[in-house]
Amino acid sequence: MNKHSSIKSSGSLLERASELYDFGAAFRNGPDNAPEQVAPIAESIMPAAEPVVPAATPTPAVKAASQQHSTFAAIDRARLASSNLIVPDGPVTGLSEEFRIVKRQLLLAARGGKGVDAVPHGERILVCSANPDEGKTYCAINLALSMASEKDNRVLLIDADFAKPSVLKTLGIENRAGFMDALADSSCDVESLVIATDIEGLSILPAGSQTNQDTEYLAASRTADIIDQLTRHDPSRIIIFDSPPALAASPASVLALHVGQTLMVVHADVTTDSALRDALSLLSGCEHVQLLLNRTKFSPTGRKFGNYYGYGAS
Ligand SMILES: Nc1ncnc2c1ncn2[C@@H]1O[C@H](COP(=O)(O)OP(=O)(O)OP(=O)(O)O)[C@@H](O)[C@H]1O
Ligand SMILES: [Mg+2]
Repeated sequence: MNKHSSIKSSGSLLERASELYDFGAAFRNGPDNAPEQVAPIAESIMPAAEPVVPAATPTPAVKAASQQHSTFAAIDRARLASSNLIVPDGPVTGLSEEFRIVKRQLLLAARGGKGVDAVPHGERILVCSANPDEGKTYCAINLALSMASEKDNRVLLIDADFAKPSVLKTLGIENRAGFMDALADSSCDVESLVIATDIEGLSILPAGSQTNQDTEYLAASRTADIIDQLTRHDPSRIIIFDSPPALAASPASVLALHVGQTLMVVHADVTTDSALRDALSLLSGCEHVQLLLNRTKFSPTGRKFGNYYGYGAS
């Protein structure tokens, strides 16, 4: 039996996450180059999801608003449901409730309030993990959908996994120009590449043309200009970056320099403490890190999850 299977069944989200991984101890005992200002770390738990029911199609008002943008894409709700993603205007599910908790913490840091100061550039959030396949894209999309579901929230989801982009494919949108194209062509207005969607409040910036010089391009000063342009265009929108894995690709550490918050996805039972520490030291350019425990076999709300991913309900 590993330490994860001996978890107690009571306690809050934070307490139960702490029982799984003693992240606090990991950072206290970590290497000298571990990010010094990583605390306070909040941990959230994301169970493996179950499918949800597709919602109704968007209203004509949403469509009209979206069509004012230069590019537009409709997102297939049935596809979202079959990929176990949050369905806009769908029923409240365990998944949507979990992301509501995660979203609250990130929005509080982005905007401040309740006695908490806003984090500098907290409206820019990097969704990262140590290794491939730990749920970064899944969490980035769900977070974007959850944030966009609130009135007055506008969210720009950037596919920043330039070597292995998957946001458009996951959402069923045809590939087109994006971030890398704007980076390579100084005459390109990056905002013109942003895709409006029929989900009110949600827009997407594709990764763009593939190159084997991602990191070199990203390291250039134009990256900061482009991200500033995106912020200036709509200062109150939240920008979510779907990152490549920190330990497998170097762009993640460069992206960390441009964001105010990092949401670190940890695959329950798989990500090791040492991989997490190494990844966090590579992302030390970002001082505010929150940990999200993904693919747990239990629900903090007490609901039982099915045997998705081989996890049996206990
Ligand atoms: N909590 C979850 N519940 C259900 N499915 C999940 C969950 N987390 C991840 N998945 C699924 O696991 C697979 C891998 O997830 P995802 O593509 O998000 O990982 P990733 O970290 O972005 O991988 P990569 O490093 O290759 O970009 C996807 O099919 C995704 O839908
Ligand atoms: Mg991914």
